[in-house]
Amino acid sequence: MTDTPASRSTAATRLAVSHITAQNETNLLGTVHGGVVMTLVDSVAGVVAARHSGGAAVTASMDEMVFVVPVRVGDVVHFSAQVNWTGRSSMEIGVRITADRWDSVSPQVHVATAYLVFVAVDEEGKPRQVPQVVPETDEDRRRLREAEIRRSHRLARRQAIIASREAPE
Ligand SMILES: CC(C)(COP(=O)(O)OP(=O)(O)OC[C@H]1O[C@@H](n2cnc3c(N)ncnc32)[C@H](O)[C@@H]1OP(=O)(O)O)[C@@H](O)C(=O)NCCC(=O)NCCS
Repeated sequence: MTDTPASRSTAATRLAVSHITAQNETNLLGTVHGGVVMTLVDSVAGVVAARHSGGAAVTASMDEMVFVVPVRVGDVVHFSAQVNWTGRSSMEIGVRITADRWDSVSPQVHVATAYLVFVAVDEEGKPRQVPQVVPETDEDRRRLREAEIRRSHRLARRQAIIASREAPE
């Protein structure tokens, strides 16, 4: 684990990864399996979380993910990921997924957007503090504001479920 600063800019750990899809990644319809894309999303987000926090980080949650258009075999899928928000030990990583069609020169299609929460952990798997993310552009500030809204909804939902389990039948 490296020495971690108190804060880090969004741009410092932003990452872009591309993947050419293959025959062994299809579903029964012959398009790319959603789980393949989700695995790549988790991996790319995990790298961003580890780089931002300067060590290990685990996936705590992944928000609902809507696939807008199918990815076809051979398409080039692009994953753009960044830290949108940081708490004490948790980070929201946003991943935008786009694709270039393998057989045409057409505008990139937007496949999906995913939001994941990663928690930085120490050697014993206990949460550890992360550097605060510092947004430097209007777009990054917008993403941070929207991540705060998602965070409050996640916490409210978690609390409501806990309360309902504890409530008498
Ligand atoms: C994620 C994990 C480390 C959290 O541990 P915990 O003891 O519940 O930690 P805490 O309650 O102290 O929460 C730590 C942080 O995680 C956040 N968090 C925990 N569960 C969360 C969830 N389901 N969604 C969003 N945030 C969550 C908390 O809000 C807190 O954030 P903050 O420090 O920024 O305020 C623990 O639940 C874990 O190890 N889960 C398994 C992770 C894993 O193995 N992932 C791979 C799946 S195969």
